[in-house]
Amino acid sequence: MELNRRTVIAGAAAAGIAATTLGTGTAQAASGGKKPVKELFGKLADGTKVYRWSLENGGTRLKVLNWGGVVQGLEIPDRRGHYANVSLGFDNIEDYVAKTPYFGALIGRYGNRIAKGQFTLDGKTYQLSVNDGVNSLHGGTQGFDKHIWDVEPFTKGSDVGLVLHYTSIDGEMGYPGTLKAKVTYTLTKHGDWRIDYEATTDKATVVNLTSHVYWNLAGEGSGTIEDHELSIAAGRYTPTDTGLIPTGELAKVAGTPFDFRKTKTVGRDIRDGHVQQVQAKGYDHNWVLDKGITAKPEHVATLRDPRSGRTLKIATDQPGLQFYSGNFLDGTLTGTGGKTYRQGDALCLETQHFPDSPNHANFPSTVLRPGQTYRTTTVHTFGC
Ligand code: GLA
Repeated sequence: MELNRRTVIAGAAAAGIAATTLGTGTAQAASGGKKPVKELFGKLADGTKVYRWSLENGGTRLKVLNWGGVVQGLEIPDRRGHYANVSLGFDNIEDYVAKTPYFGALIGRYGNRIAKGQFTLDGKTYQLSVNDGVNSLHGGTQGFDKHIWDVEPFTKGSDVGLVLHYTSIDGEMGYPGTLKAKVTYTLTKHGDWRIDYEATTDKATVVNLTSHVYWNLAGEGSGTIEDHELSIAAGRYTPTDTGLIPTGELAKVAGTPFDFRKTKTVGRDIRDGHVQQVQAKGYDHNWVLDKGITAKPEHVATLRDPRSGRTLKIATDQPGLQFYSGNFLDGTLTGTGGKTYRQGDALCLETQHFPDSPNHANFPSTVLRPGQTYRTTTVHTFGC
């Protein structure tokens, strides 16, 4: 959490406001994180048990499934200390298995799209699982989001968290090489949610891991995010064809609805009729972050709900950010709180390498070779 948030908490404590007024998460902020708690969430059709881990630290409450590393809930307070779950999800495993549009999930082996599900590496062409028209999306029909991960809880200093492991065997979804993925979710004493991704391979392959949380800072099921304010530190984006595959161009955002360099509401220019928006039914594009690839996570985007005052700041070391304005939500899914999700009821900010990089020599490389370790970090900082 940021300073203003801590000040509110400290002020409340000084004023003798009961912890219950602000929620138990606030009480935790002073005493450090709670040990992660595990409970049965449901069972897959074959009887495999799905567990849900609950973590709390610095005023943030995180609920994570061992299925897909799914963030099933993420609760943060508003400026009056009222908690809301700001992440879309379901209250049962059956809906996740049957119809989730990647709610809260870990995405791999390759987040976003690969044209025709094909790429050539070291002279060999690979055919991937195709699941989005003719293209491969988010790792194919059975991406990392649809597998059980090994989950180990930890408490380290003032941090609490989970280490998630998944091994994707050589040839799974068409990708070469056995890829060992390790993802660490950490809640810090300030209530920040940090994701550290790591992967190694035994054959040259491509990797692009990300997290697919659908944010609504007013609370999931509370309606549109068009009034959320957003800024993205990017002067360029990657325009796409009708299948949402980048054309290869790094187009300037200046003078287009894609310009989020100065804070504006998500809805302000969403109906401008720019051909790129019409194709995508809104925003569903990769922003080319001005900072490029960095050694450490740097701040790239800020989202704010003016009604509740809740803010989310994203820092990453990655070169791209997919901003998806929830265009395919169509009122057919009923979420955690019992409300249906309609178009624009949430948005995703997926830190990543550019879509279809394996087919664009001018995009930063996503190739991972034996002996190398893929490492990337994204930090979510909440405030109010
Ligand atoms: C990503 C894609 C979108 C859509 C969603 C899931 O963000 O870019 O086009 O497929 O996932 O519905």
